Amino acid sequence: MASNKSGYSFATWTSFIEESQIRALLKYKVKYYFAGGKPGIIPTDIFAGIMADLSEQYKKDPKMALEDFNYGPTGGQPWFMKTLAKRLKEVRDIPIDPETEWNCISITNGSQQALYALLDTLIDPGDVIITPSPAYLGFLVPAIKLGARIITVPTDLEGIIPEYVEKAVILSKRKFGKIPDIIYVVPDSDNPKGTTLPMSRRQALYDIAESHNILLVEDSAYAEIQFKNNPKAIKTLDKENRRVAYLGTTSKEAAVLRVGYSVLPPNVREQVLKDKGHLDLCTSSLVQRILDEYYRNHIDDAMRAAIPQYQVRCEAMLKAMDASFPAGERTEPTGGFFIWWESEDKSFDSTKFMETTAIPNEILYVPGGPFYPLTGYTMVEDGNELAPSNPEHNTMRLGFSYATPDIISEGIERLGQFLSKELG
Ligand SMILES: Cc1ncc(COP(=O)(O)O)c(C=O)c1O
Repeated sequence: MASNKSGYSFATWTSFIEESQIRALLKYKVKYYFAGGKPGIIPTDIFAGIMADLSEQYKKDPKMALEDFNYGPTGGQPWFMKTLAKRLKEVRDIPIDPETEWNCISITNGSQQALYALLDTLIDPGDVIITPSPAYLGFLVPAIKLGARIITVPTDLEGIIPEYVEKAVILSKRKFGKIPDIIYVVPDSDNPKGTTLPMSRRQALYDIAESHNILLVEDSAYAEIQFKNNPKAIKTLDKENRRVAYLGTTSKEAAVLRVGYSVLPPNVREQVLKDKGHLDLCTSSLVQRILDEYYRNHIDDAMRAAIPQYQVRCEAMLKAMDASFPAGERTEPTGGFFIWWESEDKSFDSTKFMETTAIPNEILYVPGGPFYPLTGYTMVEDGNELAPSNPEHNTMRLGFSYATPDIISEGIERLGQFLSKELG
């Protein structure tokens, strides 16, 4: 047990888990903000209209108001679950019948809560999880907190490489005597790399999960923010809803109202909602009401307006990187919020560089290190051995979602000039 000066004896995890690196960066107010995955295009006028209409409705219908300002069901309000079931079926082809299977949906406080509750209900200390290398740190850190052994699997410009996932399952069996409990992926415009998995890889991952009886967590945070047509969700392959936990969020496609929605196999859903019941009882009904109206009547218009603007931002960033960055490799996103850059010079430390050069010059990005697990395993020798996790500090995640195109062009060019000076 850890303790501090006041004598409280804090839980062990408090001594080895740090504050989220991305949360920590929020305290900096800079001109060139390329850090957290903050949406820069939010249809605030639509939400203002929805709230004005709702306010009138509440005056006319105090009974409805009393319900919406009250506690609601842990798994979500049925009317909102039905709206989302319909959208998931119609737009993402998720195999659920909106009329009869809408109660497969779970509403959580952000998809972050669904990720946490999934880990909380599936992972005992020592259990194994497979993630891409690098991976979303909001998944990695809670997994480590709960004592998971993480095996990170190589990725390329199309995302996680399924052959290595299969090898990781075999290594897990050999080294830990266990089949992994979870394979975690962000197939559409990954966080942090911005890559998108082709259909063949989606199918291969599904087949691996199926053949080894592993839960596949498909985190679809960026699925609605796409510049071109993407392959179908992995969940579309899961006709019986038993293999894939599909996670969506309103944060990127609506507003950061802290609402996530997921489609979970029934036995997984039961445990996740049991956990949520203990975590926060329920998600705000008022917020679900606002979002219900948005998803029923406004999302298509809002996305039609937002997606081209995100694409312009992405293109501005890519262009400025190509014009000014020193030797290295970048990804080529077809949606989402992020570009990943890796310096050819492996000795480059993007965390140090941010402190010494980027922040003093009003530039913020997320250094790549935190996207590799603090403890855990990485595959070496062509995937035939495991070695301790080895963060690649010569990397960075650049977010194009928040800043305007001119700020992006200016800031990235400045960053490129500083990087070129540093790296020769
Ligand atoms: C890949 C991924 N998953 C989950 C989340 C959590 O989203 P939220 O809790 O806002 O729904 C994020 C947020 O940035 C993310 O990038």
